[in-house]
Amino acid sequence: MIKYPKVNYIGNKEKIAKWICDQFPKNAETLFDAFSGGCSLSYEAKFRGLEVYTNDILEINYHIANALIENNETILKQEDIDLIFSGKPFEGFMFNNYSEVYFFPEECKELDLYRANIEKLDSEEKKSLAFALIRRAMIRKMPYSRFNINWEKIVQLRDEEYSYEKYKRRRAYHNQSFKFHFLKNLDEYNNAVFNNNKNNKAYNDDIFNLLEEIEADIIYLDPPYTGTMNNYFGFYGLIDDFITSNKTKPFENNFINKKIAVELFDNLFSKLSNFKFWYLSYNNTSYPSKDELLSLLNKYSSNVQVIERKHIYKITGKEKKEKNKEFLFIIENTNYGNIRSDRARQDVCETTN
Ligand SMILES: C[S@@+](CC[C@H](N)C(=O)[O-])C[C@H]1O[C@@H](n2cnc3c(N)ncnc32)[C@H](O)[C@@H]1O
Repeated sequence: MIKYPKVNYIGNKEKIAKWICDQFPKNAETLFDAFSGGCSLSYEAKFRGLEVYTNDILEINYHIANALIENNETILKQEDIDLIFSGKPFEGFMFNNYSEVYFFPEECKELDLYRANIEKLDSEEKKSLAFALIRRAMIRKMPYSRFNINWEKIVQLRDEEYSYEKYKRRRAYHNQSFKFHFLKNLDEYNNAVFNNNKNNKAYNDDIFNLLEEIEADIIYLDPPYTGTMNNYFGFYGLIDDFITSNKTKPFENNFINKKIAVELFDNLFSKLSNFKFWYLSYNNTSYPSKDELLSLLNKYSSNVQVIERKHIYKITGKEKKEKNKEFLFIIENTNYGNIRSDRARQDVCETTN
């Protein structure tokens, strides 16, 4: 059976992906998932036979998408696994920069070895699958599954006795090896690779650089929700550092800053003329509010609907599980036909001139 594997992406839409896809027009053929994250929505859309284009600014998310959405057939075989885990751990980029920052020195040396070995795999799809699996292992070993926790807290929570006394959970999985977690998830990830006979494609860019380049019937927008816990660079930037062997920089246009959130949304909506239908996920604890977003969207379309349902985000490490109402804005781009025929006319003029 085809099944989305355990990705455990903060802010994912796994539980409501079917509900969102149920709202898509039946005759839509192509979808652009502009903030694809862990690809839960893209995976459901691919399963339903849409041709899916994904994008995310984080490189690790490009690899998840390349492995599960663009890739239709490549899996990791035993010889690939032997290669990834061959040789001796050594002191490389992770050891030099992140020993006792996120992992113990010996663990950093293992990561350095696996990173070098993944580079030797014989296809880009295999590399992406391997990165997705190493990511899963890194996340499992990390208290709260994100990389904005300080070392003292990490050591404390990886102390199984302490964890048991304080939280009645040993969290032994934090102390199992990267290899253990990689192998434990291997079949699930391999089995998640499938072919929907479409030319799916993964991109890795700031969304503002791509909107004029890609065309699709639907664009799905699931940006970080401003005003909630949404620092994706803080959560996962470390994995990009591991992949690139470089200290990567926080990205601009990150939807964190409330002061520029409205401007950023306005700018985003003004660039969506290539898409006939826009679907935007948002919730009731974020900024701007539903009504502010509605009035912003009304500038661009006279056909905007909002539907809602309950959805609980589980953010480990926070005292309260956040309860919220999830909104789905459905916008028909009422200017779509006009813009396209204007463009076609322009093309004809340019060719005739
Ligand atoms: C709410 S998450 C998406 C979750 C995804 N729908 C899922 O189900 O896993 C938002 C994503 O937007 C990405 N992002 C933030 N700013 C971006 C930008 N300017 N361009 C592209 N992606 C961006 C983040 O890296 C993050 O993965």
